[in-house]
Amino acid sequence: MSPRRGADVLATARARNLEQTVQDAGIILCTGSGGVGKTTAAAALALAAAQRGRRTIVVTIDPARRLAQSMGLHALENTPRAVPGVEGLDAMMLDMKRTFDEVIDRHANDPERAERIKTNRFYKQLTDSLAGTQEYMATEKLFDLHTAAAYECIVVDTPPTRNALDFLDAPKRLTDFLEGRFLRLFLAPGMAAGRLTARAAGFGAGVFMRVASRITGAGVLGDLAEFFQSFEGMYDGFKNRAQSVYRLLQSPGSAFVVVATPDTPALREARYFLQRLAGEGMPTAGLVINRMTPEPTAALAGHSPPEFETVAKRLDDGVPERRATAALLRLAADRTEAAVREQRTISSALHGVDPRALVEVPMMSDDIHDLEGLRRLGSHLVGTGSAA
Ligand SMILES: Nc1ncnc2c1ncn2[C@@H]1O[C@H](COP(=O)(O)OP(=O)(O)OP(=O)(O)O)[C@@H](O)[C@H]1O
Ligand SMILES: [Mg+2]
Repeated sequence: MSPRRGADVLATARARNLEQTVQDAGIILCTGSGGVGKTTAAAALALAAAQRGRRTIVVTIDPARRLAQSMGLHALENTPRAVPGVEGLDAMMLDMKRTFDEVIDRHANDPERAERIKTNRFYKQLTDSLAGTQEYMATEKLFDLHTAAAYECIVVDTPPTRNALDFLDAPKRLTDFLEGRFLRLFLAPGMAAGRLTARAAGFGAGVFMRVASRITGAGVLGDLAEFFQSFEGMYDGFKNRAQSVYRLLQSPGSAFVVVATPDTPALREARYFLQRLAGEGMPTAGLVINRMTPEPTAALAGHSPPEFETVAKRLDDGVPERRATAALLRLAADRTEAAVREQRTISSALHGVDPRALVEVPMMSDDIHDLEGLRRLGSHLVGTGSAA
């Protein structure tokens, strides 16, 4: 896509203020590339929504242990738990395997058939290896919670993926995968394993072959055939649900919060994701740039790094106190330079993105692992402490 067209697309991605989002969005999805702060941001936004009197749940994926504990989560389970000390806030850690099992139970409409699928070796491998399975499960859980209507605000964390777009593509990929193409391939009578491999590869079925190759030993083909046979008649259910989730994500009550760190790869990916969201008609609430280099204190603002250096040289006459002061000034100069570099990185990687969509959050002095940390992060996200 040319930069010009990219800018046009992004101009239509309406930024909403995050304060307003925690006040009125029914669904908030935190997405972005690996390690940028999605889980922490999701928890902080959920806490902010609950503090505004809204019955809220945050669905987290793989939170750091201390953060999980501070939210009253001690094990993977698909049941919401009340967050101790916060009125109106529940949390849960998504258990992928159990969610997939629940999905099978629901779609199979027949306990025996569900059991046949769940004990199938191919199924067990599939739940671990199919790219996008986690993303798909997160959307399934989201849809469940939305349908149950027990919460005013559902905040969803997304799994660490190489590519944030996996989240949008997952439902379609899974239904495509389960749908007829592979089924027909496998059930074609008399097909030799060698030919099968070649033909499956011809369909770009890298995932499929990866899964299949992990199952070795007798009865492999039998397992595969049984797996796909068991699914017969269930595809429509999967497809309809995937479409419902898709429409739900397009509805005005949903809001995507894209999270990035101030480095070019994460920012580029965030920009691309914003484009995708705009293209798919999915509402964007903002682009959080997390872990920014904090600006030096206000008293030093307005001075350029060379000025710091001039003063530092003058001070640095060997007297310990003045030497320490000079060192602090040089540190402030480094920080300022880093902050300026970051701003340049941001504007070049995010060309075409409406600056009003950006929410800058500083790197905090410590990991965010308790409610107090989440509150502090929240104050940056929803306004009061924001550097934006
Ligand atoms: N603004 C911040 N200042 C300091 N530490 C932060 C900040 N935001 C997040 N962190 C820390 O960064 C680490 C990664 O955050 P988090 O787990 O939320 O990222 P993630 O995007 O969910 O990662 P993954 O892709 O692996 O799921 C955590 O230890 C968290 O406490
Ligand atoms: Mg995470």
